[in-house]
Amino acid sequence: MSLETPAPLTPYPRHGSNSGQPISRRDGELKVTGQATYAADNHPPGLLYAVTAVSSIARGRVAALDVAAAKAHPGVVEVITPANRPPLSHDPDVKLGMFGFRIEVLQDDKVRYANQPIALVLAESLEAAVEGAALLRPRYEVEPARTGLGNGDRYAPAAVGVGAPPRTAFGDLDAGFAAADQVIEAEFTTPAQFHNAMEPHAVVAQWDGDHLTLDMPNQALVMSREAYAAYFGVPGENVLIRSPFLGGGFGSKAILNGPQILAILAARHMRRPVKLVLSRAQMYGPVGHRGRTWQTLRLGVDGEGRLTAMHHHSLAATSSFEDFLEPAANASLHAYASPAILSQTEGLRLDIGTPGPMRAPGEASGSAALEVAMDEAALACGMDPLAFRLKNFAETEPGTGRPYSSNALRECYAEGAKAFGWAGRPLQPRQMRDKDGLLVGWGMGTALFPCPHFPAEARATLRADGTALVETAGVDMGQGAWTALAQIAAEALGLDPEQVEFRSGVSDLPDAGVAGGSGHTASAGLALHNAGQNVIARLAELAGADPASPLFGAGNIGVVAKGGRLHRRDDEGRSESYADILARTGQTELVGTGRMARDEEAVQAWAMYSHGAVFAEVKVDPDLGMVRATRLVGAFAAGRIINPKLVRSQYYGGMIWGVSFALQEAAIADPRTGRIMNADLAEYRIPVNADVPSLEAILVPEDDRYVNPLGVKGVGEIGITGTVGAIANAVWHATGVRVRRFPIQIEDLLGGG
Ligand code: MOS
Repeated sequence: MSLETPAPLTPYPRHGSNSGQPISRRDGELKVTGQATYAADNHPPGLLYAVTAVSSIARGRVAALDVAAAKAHPGVVEVITPANRPPLSHDPDVKLGMFGFRIEVLQDDKVRYANQPIALVLAESLEAAVEGAALLRPRYEVEPARTGLGNGDRYAPAAVGVGAPPRTAFGDLDAGFAAADQVIEAEFTTPAQFHNAMEPHAVVAQWDGDHLTLDMPNQALVMSREAYAAYFGVPGENVLIRSPFLGGGFGSKAILNGPQILAILAARHMRRPVKLVLSRAQMYGPVGHRGRTWQTLRLGVDGEGRLTAMHHHSLAATSSFEDFLEPAANASLHAYASPAILSQTEGLRLDIGTPGPMRAPGEASGSAALEVAMDEAALACGMDPLAFRLKNFAETEPGTGRPYSSNALRECYAEGAKAFGWAGRPLQPRQMRDKDGLLVGWGMGTALFPCPHFPAEARATLRADGTALVETAGVDMGQGAWTALAQIAAEALGLDPEQVEFRSGVSDLPDAGVAGGSGHTASAGLALHNAGQNVIARLAELAGADPASPLFGAGNIGVVAKGGRLHRRDDEGRSESYADILARTGQTELVGTGRMARDEEAVQAWAMYSHGAVFAEVKVDPDLGMVRATRLVGAFAAGRIINPKLVRSQYYGGMIWGVSFALQEAAIADPRTGRIMNADLAEYRIPVNADVPSLEAILVPEDDRYVNPLGVKGVGEIGITGTVGAIANAVWHATGVRVRRFPIQIEDLLGGG
């Protein structure tokens, strides 16, 4: 990669203001009034209910199942086990594409993790299916489960995350540490976390000959369609996935899973529609999770408080049969200026379900460790944590030296600190108490997330009445895509959002790519923007060539689309409505298409990230060790903001998850059996309203002319990345106890300080 600063490219034209309309979600009313239908709300006639029987051991084999007892139960019509499982067209032991993991679909009698499907029971009612599954009474040959560091098998992975290298090095690490005045070394652990979307994984599968219709929550409609088509040996266009609403995805609904494949297979086998809805407990296994990590950070600092070297090593847990590894160590590659950086990941094979992407995969776990280590380094240098980060501000991308397409991180630090009231914070811990005698602590962390884009396509149709229909297979999993994408399309079409009908959430529309990686608005948005512009260009051509139009001779470049009219750029008073242009030229509609397109030269030349700074206040009971996050202020810069209301909501969501990561969430495996002991929402702790502090999200303006023609970065995942460390650092500041194991628990704080 070139270390030279590229000459500035021709900037993209700017579009409107930096921040758009804060309109409310188009799907909001449907959801709060219960009119929105989710996958499991579908009841086609002749429906069979499927329930997976799942293993209660984590490793071994199923020696016997009492299939006869299950089948004798009234209402049970079939039991599918490895002995009679119908064939699939794609070998489930072979990975299928980037997000297509190897999965359990009853291909053998082996048990590889607790909650693995070991049979599928089909019945005329849900109750009968549940009772039938219970009657199977599996007998197992049990092998000791590998549950942690003590008995897991370490290995050197070929890749981390979805294809990143397991080792990345910049500069001379030994020289960096040799030049350091101090080396701060710290070990961190992060637990297994499960997505726990409100809507469980579900599918209603219907076959009509070799055509398949699937109602299911799905973050990547067209990509998944192709994968299901491969498993069932039919052309992609024969598979229709309907996913109008998702009750949360967070990455877990972007990957295929075994239970869904089994339900589809059962529907074909039984020649009847089949519905499968996982129970909450059954989601702790076959549908992904945030994998455990054991991270070591070494930071070298010189006498001025400058980083001389960063070494981030992560041991990441995965299953015995797949390779997804949380890319936590890579969080240190892009955050701070350091002449030498080494990121390394090792794998640890355990008898668990395969982990997968979960909101800010890598960055969430990695920044949790990095931001605490940075706090420790600041203290070692006798510096304020914010001053220390500013001292190590990366003026260009660490390692590559590429300039940032935009980087308002300094403004984020400044605005966040001001709103929080950071100035005057004592350096030492245990200096502040509130009126009730609770220890008060303040901490901060840097938030950062890259700006991936995915291939995406869209179609726009201008109708005779001057309104428009825009279509793309986008996914709204609660983030507000339907609304923000409609706003982008409306802007490109020169219409109000109310004049734009937006069709989405079905796989036979143009491919909108993956709703993930914080890249959906940018990716699908670019496709819609281009489709809208394509229509307008064609409309301008029609008008410009028509001597009867006031736009005659204006040419394509010479018009502006707004308010449902084309205006001459040189004389905006001369204009004509879309409806009139279409009517006079005899068109009933005008169709345009667009795809995600970026300037590839710019993508190579500039480093592209969203940035932010999170400031946290906690209060800790000095006697009981109870921690409350009382105040969070995040300031984020993510390029152009399409809808500030929705974006703020994304930041809040990320920050709330940061509270959860720092103080609450962990799935705990029983070391004797490998079973998760808290696979329910009573004991798997997530924040309720009382746990959510006062939240403030500041939208720091940022004009990015290179990231893409819209100037849009991504906002979905960055909120969690700074928050975890900020809270942990605040806990230290309150108590003087440095906890490096997440989540921070009462017992970590008692007796310390
Ligand atoms: Mo996400 S973890 O990119 O849905």
